[in-house]
Amino acid sequence: MERADDKPETVPAVRWGAGLQASLFAKGRAGRRALRLPPWDGAPVDTALPAAARRAAPCDLPALSEPEVMRHYTQLSTLNHNIERGMYPLGSCTMKFNPRLNEEVAALPGFAALHPEQDDADAQGLLEALARLQDALCRLTGFPACSLHPAAGAHGEFLGMQVIRAFHLARGERDRDQILIPDSAHGTNPASVTMVGMRPATLASRPNGRIDLEALRRAVGPRTAGIMITNPNTLGLFETEIGAIARVVHEAGGRLYMDGANFNAILGKARPADMGFDVVHINLHKTFSTPHGGGGPGAGPICVSAELAPFLPGPVITRREGQWRLEAPATPCTPSVHSYFGNVGVCLRALAYILSNGGDGLTRVAERAVLNANYVLACLKDILPVPHAEGCLHEFVASAAAWKEQHGIRALDLAKRLLDFGVHAPTVYFPLIVDEALMIEPTESEPKESLDAFVAAIRQIHREARTDPELLHNAPHTTPVRRLDEARAARQPDLAHLGPCNCG
Ligand SMILES: Cc1ncc(COP(=O)(O)O)c(C=O)c1O
Repeated sequence: MERADDKPETVPAVRWGAGLQASLFAKGRAGRRALRLPPWDGAPVDTALPAAARRAAPCDLPALSEPEVMRHYTQLSTLNHNIERGMYPLGSCTMKFNPRLNEEVAALPGFAALHPEQDDADAQGLLEALARLQDALCRLTGFPACSLHPAAGAHGEFLGMQVIRAFHLARGERDRDQILIPDSAHGTNPASVTMVGMRPATLASRPNGRIDLEALRRAVGPRTAGIMITNPNTLGLFETEIGAIARVVHEAGGRLYMDGANFNAILGKARPADMGFDVVHINLHKTFSTPHGGGGPGAGPICVSAELAPFLPGPVITRREGQWRLEAPATPCTPSVHSYFGNVGVCLRALAYILSNGGDGLTRVAERAVLNANYVLACLKDILPVPHAEGCLHEFVASAAAWKEQHGIRALDLAKRLLDFGVHAPTVYFPLIVDEALMIEPTESEPKESLDAFVAAIRQIHREARTDPELLHNAPHTTPVRRLDEARAARQPDLAHLGPCNCG
């Protein structure tokens, strides 16, 4: 017979991050242990360490069993959204699926266990792999030379700008210090120009989101060192007049830099060299897949024309008498931007991705990425207008300005509410030329079902904007941490403390 005090307690629902309010230290219980070391054999152990470096008392570590430790870290690993968990339509970032094959290749002991100071003779396989990657990137971009050194897209911009500067200086053109940049550009573009001691100058876009050729003609002059163009640009649009743009800049004595962060859209379809560019950087971690969310590793190699090749930094990979070597370049060049040879693990992942897809596979990547973006655009444009929709490629920038005007719902509210649907938010408020911008890049990784689920989530949020705007103002509701003061979170991040959790 059931007694009154036998009544089962209500068990609270389990949510993301439940149980993590307590740190690993608070979970410790005296006497538990995860592993047992072999008994000490009695030999003296403390003679090697100087007295000052020895502990006076045992370290205060929590005592836990192995399953407790495993659960803690496994739960921790699930707190961040990631592409394996759900859709990640972060515009301008190409968060595509990262095939496990890439990880296996990068982890091969012959690669992973090499020391950077290893003799070239012991690193023949790695040097050949890196040379093959350089070759593949040259073939995809149409340029004859490549440097794998930069560790990120912005780092590639920095090196590319240095190369252009060095080229002008070598010709005695000291006054060429101005780089033209369209107003839709990523913030790293003007920053990189400034970092190398040149001056960025903004070019206003035409109403169709592309470069204004007449404004460009008026802007170029004897101080023009070059132009930096993202193509397709951050509105997802191809610069249709790129040939004419290249002619204007070249005739003025400048050089063309392509920010290739959006290379995913034109892989195998169009080559920067054929468009008239002189330098391009490629975000290997975006176009060729690498888990780069949350500040993960990257690589931003640059490929350059023959006249700029002598200005690439060393060391360079050479092959003589059947041996691969790392050597200083023959001519004086720009200073090195990375120790050793760049972010080699990311380069290996990119090579694995390129070889496993093959040329035709890479072309299909671009086609599928463009198809997916256009499908989502077509499904959403009645509720989320896209001011520059014509000719959209791999991403598009929608505006939530009408949501704000009619319901007081901002792009930020929509983005935060999407988290409750298990979808990462799109990029918001960039590029600056679109009011209440939402930059959406589904990538080629997503099947139609997840695109449809994404569209359905946004349509539901649109209904909520009309019927329950407070729900959106307070979103997200299901994540381990609710809405943060973003400025404070960026300036005073609290990375160690998991609670108090607002899971509700
Ligand atoms: C258009 C564009 N250019 C440059 C960059 C900089 O690349 P990274 O983040 O690898 O430095 C980004 C990154 O988001 C970008 O979207």
